[in-house]
This record gives sequence, structure tokens and C-alpha cells, in this order.
Amino acid sequence: MNVFFKRQYLRKKLRQWYHLHKRDLPWRKTLDPYKIWTSEIMLQQTQVATVIPYYQKWVKTFPKLETFAKAPLSKVLKLWAGLGYYRRARMFHKAAQYVKKNLGGKIPGKMEELRKLPGIGRYTAGAIASIAYNETVPVLDGNVIRILTRIFGISQNIDRPATIGKLWKIAETLLPKKNPGDFNQALMELGATLCFSLNPECSRCPVRTSCIAHKKRREIFYPVRSKREKYEKILMTALVVQNKKLEVFIEKQPEQGRWGGLWMFPFWTRKEDMLRASSKICCQLRHFLTLQHAFTKYRIRLEVYRGDFKKKGIQRRRNWRWISIRTLKDLAIPSPHRKIAEKLSLENSLESGLFSPKKTASVNNF
Ligand code: ADE
Repeated sequence: MNVFFKRQYLRKKLRQWYHLHKRDLPWRKTLDPYKIWTSEIMLQQTQVATVIPYYQKWVKTFPKLETFAKAPLSKVLKLWAGLGYYRRARMFHKAAQYVKKNLGGKIPGKMEELRKLPGIGRYTAGAIASIAYNETVPVLDGNVIRILTRIFGISQNIDRPATIGKLWKIAETLLPKKNPGDFNQALMELGATLCFSLNPECSRCPVRTSCIAHKKRREIFYPVRSKREKYEKILMTALVVQNKKLEVFIEKQPEQGRWGGLWMFPFWTRKEDMLRASSKICCQLRHFLTLQHAFTKYRIRLEVYRGDFKKKGIQRRRNWRWISIRTLKDLAIPSPHRKIAEKLSLENSLESGLFSPKKTASVNNF
């Protein structure tokens, strides 16, 4: 099939398939750019099933960009708690405040303008502009890369920027003028529901007859990437200090750093530093648990120790606060530290419903 007909064929097949098989997702019931923006930010690095309840709660709490922009960051982070990658929430908040202050609350309708906002890269800008504003601009993420390298039999390494550039070009030439947002979402949908990395369901795929990888029965070998992913291993030590009132120390991270505005148990990169600090404030130090956490290119091993608070030798430290174990669940705590909080909560058998019921956290200054 020549290239022109292949493109026409793919457009038609994908459009028909999408209309018949698309999942009923809450952000597909709206064209409100603010809501679509919300969904796209949440969907970065997070699965659809996880995002749905967060999205629904979000649009109820912040139905308009203005309500979101004027909310305090602490409220934003609390609503985001559990979704992970909190930087997304902070950037989204910054961008919303910028739009409110400098653009009269109107979200830009062009991909190139959207890309200038914090937290919006080419993919997200393309998704928002095509879905909410019908602009003919492509998207390219992991799912779309997998589909395009398979259909077109692209065997160059996708770790090379030149290959990614080529794939953007293909995505662009494939895009129809009519309903580009639907076409982009059809690609996302195919990647999420059929064109899996390891067990693709080719028998149900609407475009299998024009897929080069399928013809060669080499689907799982696409995309081609460098042999081994390079991870950076990080070892960290955290400390749970508990008093007789069933309270633990927790520390609010400075607004600026990677964990800006989030609450974490005191932690160190060197165990010796933890031992030194703990010897001044607690006794009966014991190992509590070991956690592993994968975060972008980092593989974090977190050793958690626990000790009982002793008054003697107490030292004022940074911004540590006492908080009751019962109310830990109401704070925005990033994933690995949240696991510590969950274990403490379970252990104290204070609530069977784990982290769901709403209660206001009481944080006391130390
Ligand atoms: N992943 C990223 N954007 C998406 C969307 N609009 N629908 C489904 N999955 C997505």
C-alpha cells in the first residue's frame, strides 16, 4: 500500500474503532480546556483507573480555573495526596495562577502558547490543544511511540533524539484535519487497551493488517531501545519518633525543593546522621521497615527506624511538628513516606477504613 493510502486507511480504521470502543472516561464528556488540562496533568505518569476518582473530586472542589488558582497550595497538595509526582500539582497551580493573572483567566488555545506554561510539555500541549480546541497538532508519548514504531516498522533506537523527531513527524503527517483530538485519543486508547508492550492483542486490533511489526510477528521487539535502563540507586534513612500520646514527628519540606510543601518523616541520606540525631531525641531505637520506591530514574531504598521520644537532651530541629498518628492520613505525604504512615496507622488499629475518612489534621508546633 502506498504511503498516502496507508495514512487514509489508518485514519479511517482508528476513527471507527475509537467511536465503537472508547472507554467512558469523565474528561471525555467535556470540552472545557481547564478540565481537559486537569486530566492531562493527572494522566502524566499515572494510570487512568487511578486518575478517575482524583479527577472527579478535583473538578468538584475546583470547578473553574479561578477557584483553583486562588486556592492555597496546601489545599491543592492535599487533594493531590496519593497521586504522586507532586511537582505536577505545584506546576499546574503556578500555571493556573499565571493564566488568571496575566491572561485574564483564558487558557491559551494554541499548542505553542500552552507549551510556555509551567508543567506543559509538547505532549500535554498537543493533547489539550487538539482535544479542547480542535487544533491539528499531534501527541507522542510512550503509548504512541509503541504504536507508530510497530505500524511503520521503525527499528532505530528510540533513545536517540533523531528517532523521536522522526516519530513526531510521522504523528503529524498522520493527523486528520477533522477531529484531531479524537484521533490523538484513539492512538492513546489503542496503546492503553490493545497495543501492549509484552502481550499485544493483535487479533482485536483495527489496524493490524497494515502493521509492519505484526506482519513480521515481531511486535514485542518494537520499539527498539538501549539494552539496559540506567537507574540511580539511592539509600535513605527515615526516623519515626513517637511519644506517649501516639503522636509522631513529621516535617514540612521547604516550598522550594523537590518535595516542596509536602510532609515527610525526618530523613537523611547517611545513616550515621540519623543515628546522631536520634540519640539526642529518642531511646529504644529499632528497625521498623524497609521500603523500595521507583521514581523516574531513581530506585530508592528507604530504611525506616523507630524510637521512643525522650525529653532529656531534646533539641529544636528545623520544622518538625508533632502530629497524631490518627490524623496523618490528612496530610499530603509523598508515596514512600505515606507507606510508613499507613503502617503506623494500621499498627495502632485506630481505623479500619485506612486512609479514606475525612478528618482535619491537627498539627502542633514543636
Ligand atoms: N492518557 C493521556 N491522555 C489521555 C486521555 N485523554 N485519555 C486517555 N488516556 C490518556
